[in-house]
Amino acid sequence: MSALADRVLPVDAGRSPGEPDVRRPASRSDEKGLLRLLTCGSVDDGKSTLIGRLLYDTKLLFEDQISALGRDSRRHGKAGDALDFALLVDGLAAEREQGITIDVAYRYFATARRKFIVADTPGHEQYTRNMVTGASNADLAVILVDARKGILPQTKRHSAIVSLLGIRHVVLAVNKMDLVEAPQAVFETIVASYRAFTADFGFATLQPIPVIACAGDNIVDRSAAMPWYEGPTLVGHLETVDLAETRSAAPFRMPVQWVNRPHLDFRGFSGTIAAGTVRPGDRLAVARSGVTSRVRSIVTYDGDLAEASAGDAVTLVFEDEIDLSRGDLLAAAAERPAVADQFAAHLIWMHDEPAIPGRSYLLKIGARTVTASLSEIKHKLDVDTLQKLAAKTLALNEIGFVNVTTQEPIAFDPFDIVHETGAFIVIDRITNLTVGAGMIAFGLHRAANIHWQALDVSKASRAAMKRQRPAVLWFTGLSGAGKSTIANLVEKRLQGMGHHTYLLDGDNVRHGLNRDLGFTDADRVENIRRVAETARLFADAGLVTLVSFISPFRAERRMARELLEAGEFVEIFVDTPLAIAESRDPKGLYRQARLGLIPNFTGIESPYEPPERPDLRLTPDLDAEAAALRVVGFLSERGYLAETAETPR
Ligand code: ADX
Repeated sequence: MSALADRVLPVDAGRSPGEPDVRRPASRSDEKGLLRLLTCGSVDDGKSTLIGRLLYDTKLLFEDQISALGRDSRRHGKAGDALDFALLVDGLAAEREQGITIDVAYRYFATARRKFIVADTPGHEQYTRNMVTGASNADLAVILVDARKGILPQTKRHSAIVSLLGIRHVVLAVNKMDLVEAPQAVFETIVASYRAFTADFGFATLQPIPVIACAGDNIVDRSAAMPWYEGPTLVGHLETVDLAETRSAAPFRMPVQWVNRPHLDFRGFSGTIAAGTVRPGDRLAVARSGVTSRVRSIVTYDGDLAEASAGDAVTLVFEDEIDLSRGDLLAAAAERPAVADQFAAHLIWMHDEPAIPGRSYLLKIGARTVTASLSEIKHKLDVDTLQKLAAKTLALNEIGFVNVTTQEPIAFDPFDIVHETGAFIVIDRITNLTVGAGMIAFGLHRAANIHWQALDVSKASRAAMKRQRPAVLWFTGLSGAGKSTIANLVEKRLQGMGHHTYLLDGDNVRHGLNRDLGFTDADRVENIRRVAETARLFADAGLVTLVSFISPFRAERRMARELLEAGEFVEIFVDTPLAIAESRDPKGLYRQARLGLIPNFTGIESPYEPPERPDLRLTPDLDAEAAALRVVGFLSERGYLAETAETPR
């Protein structure tokens, strides 16, 4: 009994992220007895009261349970098996490791029949973000509505997210039943409209329950005040709802967290099994390379295992020497995940700054983080009407269906098939904040039949023929800063020195290649993406390319830098303050913008993010000629203008 209590009490003593688990018992986790649930609703709906009630009322059962178990275990001598709370703590640690636990408090309770984890998502702000975080693992959602208010837009939003997150069991808890007249009729109306709204949401079970959370009616005990209600109590339902369908055997998946090589004779791959089961002798594949081998042993701190499954932290040793690194995904050889660099996904945006196609983000899936962008927003969802709306960006809390492109192929499963390898988060590259959560729908095969064509004439040979080193001189700054004037003078000088150059200028390119683009944030991101790609092609052609665009956002300038080889990108900040640019006003645009005739004008209605560490900064105390000389001087000092050693063929 006391040993049991010891294991039960320190629930908060979870591992810190990334710390290997040495305490985990070697036995397989008994997942059948565990239900993870999420509560959706606001404080006003009575959410805190409901959770408080659940914890309070079941605490009694919980203690009964422990003493009953204590008696049983003395009799049968296997007390440890039934109440394995280490499992709960471990599950949470795994989530923390994935970096997706943000503002969610997990609480647990137990009854004689089941153990429960409740993800409580506090706070009004960023509610969706917390909810997504809490829901990432849930089996069941309790959607709480206030009987007096009925179904609100947020009820619809939460239900849509619950459906997208693959939660297949829902309880519609209609609270404050004591505060409405004709409660039965009110309840039935709410239930009917909720059923109609969620008809296509793919819920396996939907149980409506009228409750009075503050008094405990229909939580654990049946309500004397609502004799007309014949269904189960909340706890009664949570104890008995059949989860079997949602826990069907998934194929084996394990993201490799680290390669474990304590000495030369041992090489194992460690991680937490994300899905499925593995036994010695099973043939596994490294998803990306396709290399396969058989498992020789499953090693844990407590000894080798005959079998391990989802949630277990293990080290796998193979029969063959296989090549594999952190972030790779090990999978059942007979049931492999998709490997692609493009896929379609549902994306829930969780940041004030909208999601913009073409912008470069980090995408984290399993143990792997890659550079990625949204290639297209197919539509966004109007959560009130469930209509698909056209969208150019996704704002905070919006849900979209998007195409994602990753810089390198990644291994994944459709979220419907394996949650753990089908979910990803999107991270802002500059702030490192989690800004989105996604569920992969399917891989896009379009990419699979476009291969890089190997060409015999190379960038190096093209550059050598011109006796120069390719470079991209990227001029950024406000409109009227002097970018184009200076770039033009630099190009003249370089050409005079015998260099092969090309100047891409914002105003000119916007007349042709980019004439479909305006000046919204989304269009500017696409403008710069295309120009950066063009500059890359010109650098590949061996040219010294000058780019003169406002390019107001750090993220896109960074993307341009990353498209090029190290050292090829030279960021030149034409640092003319707004007041000076505006006083010059060469095209009269500032004047018009101030009159409200040009929307989104940079510096007035639209931001300019100055470079933090430009390669070169030009200030207005230099006139254009002096600034151009400074650029040429910089290039020659840094060896950009030296003739290449190779002689042209
Ligand atoms: S960027 O922001 O997308 O990089 P770009 O350099 O291509 O801008 O184009 C800027 C030029 O477009 C300006 O020099 C100006 O002549 C013109 N322009 C027209 N409308 C705007 C606007 N709303 N904001 C900034 N420039 C504008």
